[in-house]
Amino acid sequence: MPGARAPLRVEEDLPYLATRPPPLVMRDCRSPRRVPSSPPALTPRDLKRLNIIAERKKPSPPLPSEGGSVHSERYRGDLSAQAMSSKGVALVTGAAQGIGRGVALRLAEDGFDVAINDIPDKSAELDTLVEEIQQKQRKSSKHLADVSQEESVKEMVVEVVKAHGGLDVMVANAGIAGPWTSLVGGTPPLHRSISAEQWDKVMAVNARGTFLCYKHAGLQMIAQGRGGRIIGASSYAGKMAVALQSVYSTSKFAIRGLTQAAALEFGPHGITVNAVAPGMIVTPMLTEALKEAAEQAETLLEKMKSASPLNKLGTPEDIAGLVSFLASKESQFITGSHV
Ligand SMILES: NC(=O)c1ccc[n+]([C@@H]2O[C@H](COP(=O)([O-])OP(=O)(O)OC[C@H]3O[C@@H](n4cnc5c(N)ncnc54)[C@H](O)[C@@H]3O)[C@@H](O)[C@H]2O)c1
Repeated sequence: MPGARAPLRVEEDLPYLATRPPPLVMRDCRSPRRVPSSPPALTPRDLKRLNIIAERKKPSPPLPSEGGSVHSERYRGDLSAQAMSSKGVALVTGAAQGIGRGVALRLAEDGFDVAINDIPDKSAELDTLVEEIQQKQRKSSKHLADVSQEESVKEMVVEVVKAHGGLDVMVANAGIAGPWTSLVGGTPPLHRSISAEQWDKVMAVNARGTFLCYKHAGLQMIAQGRGGRIIGASSYAGKMAVALQSVYSTSKFAIRGLTQAAALEFGPHGITVNAVAPGMIVTPMLTEALKEAAEQAETLLEKMKSASPLNKLGTPEDIAGLVSFLASKESQFITGSHV
């Protein structure tokens, strides 16, 4: 038949299938084992390849921070050592208020030196936070940058490394709320239709901003060769869409996909990547969103509370506790999750 394809030949077309594993035998009903067979002799080429792999797996270089990072053998987690030295260096974006501020304070309490970021309008709030972190006997520095701009994110990571000697934990927390708008309009009183500009603005900060933070933190951590932790801020709206919040939901679903992809790519470097997916948390973002909902605010608030099995709203400290665990050594086997 013209155009008909020749049948696939396993040996030539799918060579990786041609090498079959040895058959399985049941030693007992609980533990299947492979029949032991003598290993095939290694060719000089195989030996050369193995050497390359062994070389790549050399132990991590020494750490700049005295107490070591989340992956350092030197970090033992005992409080006396922690009080003296740093657990590593964390960078928290969108830290001037709300969840980011709570996370920055918690990581400082955990023993990290904490670099904090927000937009230039929030410079004064960051100054106060730097002082609060320093009062906890940890180093801190402020980094004004818009996370949606690649050059700014790149420069911020360079500055953090200059100030603190490395980067061990990136918390890509910065985000903005979406407008309460319908896709097509016509649902009074929230009857406006979302514009393409509104869509782009939310996606730029939430999705692109998180991507840029993952990318430049990932590059730095891979270059350091000592592993790391990357934590993104998704949302319950990144698990289940919310009506009148199409772009916010979309941006938070995007963070979920990005987190899984980054976990797969960064895993071989000892870097875990996870995202938090909070329910309703009392922060300026929530109060502003409620203001925008005007006369619907009371109803919305009640709906938000009753949507939670605990029938209450969360606090930044609730999320900071989760981030603290994900940033710790104890979470080393958790990656690609959306909690
Ligand atoms: N509050 C909630 O109920 C809730 C629920 C789920 C997820 N989240 C997510 O958690 C994160 C923090 O939320 P929040 O409630 O603390 O918000 P928030 O508005 O109180 O704080 C967000 C901070 O991010 C900063 N920011 C905004 N755009 C930025 C940019 N381009 N570059 C750098 N910084 C920028 C803001 O200035 C602000 O300080 C967000 O990503 C949010 O989407 C919040």
